[in-house]
Amino acid sequence: MSTGTGVAEGRTMRCGIIGKPVGHSISPAFQNAAFRALGIDARYETWETEPEGLAAMVATLREADVLGANVTVPYKEAVLPLLDRLSEDAALVGAVNTIVRAGDGALVGHNTDIAGFQRALAEELAAAPVGRVAVIGAGGAARAVVLALARLGAWEIAVANRTIERAITLCDDLAETAGVPLMPLPLTGAVRAVRAARIIVNTTSVGMAGGEGDGRSPIPAMTFHAGQLVCDVVANPLETPLMRDAAAAGARTLGGRRMLVYQGGAAFTLWTGQEAPLDVMLEAARGAMAGR
Ligand code: ATR
Repeated sequence: MSTGTGVAEGRTMRCGIIGKPVGHSISPAFQNAAFRALGIDARYETWETEPEGLAAMVATLREADVLGANVTVPYKEAVLPLLDRLSEDAALVGAVNTIVRAGDGALVGHNTDIAGFQRALAEELAAAPVGRVAVIGAGGAARAVVLALARLGAWEIAVANRTIERAITLCDDLAETAGVPLMPLPLTGAVRAVRAARIIVNTTSVGMAGGEGDGRSPIPAMTFHAGQLVCDVVANPLETPLMRDAAAAGARTLGGRRMLVYQGGAAFTLWTGQEAPLDVMLEAARGAMAGR
């Protein structure tokens, strides 16, 4: 793992989040809380970027007072050709959520969504086996989640997507690395796989506050039952319609906030070389969300 150039004495270092929109991101709240907690002279900013300004924005990361950046919707794939190198995980997922200016000045793309989800799920499961899983969606977030699930020992992963072709491509691309059976399915034909799964993970944006799918769930409520763990990578709202349906059916739920903070913690370590104060970050994230 290549960490960044680190924090220089006597100057305030900068990092930030590149995306559109980023005004509602809670990353500044928990990253700045982490800098304060460790006495690091750095600040985390929001860098709202238009598509035509993306290359120029990424070029500014080469400036000496920049630690790096996070990348979010809709640029996680678009930044790839603008970087000098990719970590193994970023190359596998084909998406970058963290950029680090390495010691040699190169811009390196990482994907900390894998580690973020893996940590959040591992905590929730404790020592319980992962078993059979159904992943909803087949974009960059789904790729990160599939790799994390495979690393946690899933037996079999069904990947259900509205556009079946994307699910097939994901399964073909990741089959070898995952090392467990991956089964592509159309979303409309996924009821049986979802019912048979011990763990279900929504990686689509359906249910996200302010988005197109606000107030909706990507799968019918009758699909859930007790004994399942239903996870949503959507962090806002704290309880999505999917999680509400799952809880009503007696299933356990895991929301996206921990994953969000843990991917941020992994990015923090890449930028600063220091262990992230995760408790401080979780508390700050909780505060920022409560203020909405
Ligand atoms: P990300 O990198 O965040 O995963 P993405 O690559 O745009 O974002 O992928 C979004 C995922 O959400 C896709 O699986 C998408 O399904 P399609 O491949 O069919 O587009 C899914 N998605 C988005 N809106 C959806 C909706 N209204 N119903 C079902 N799936 C939806």
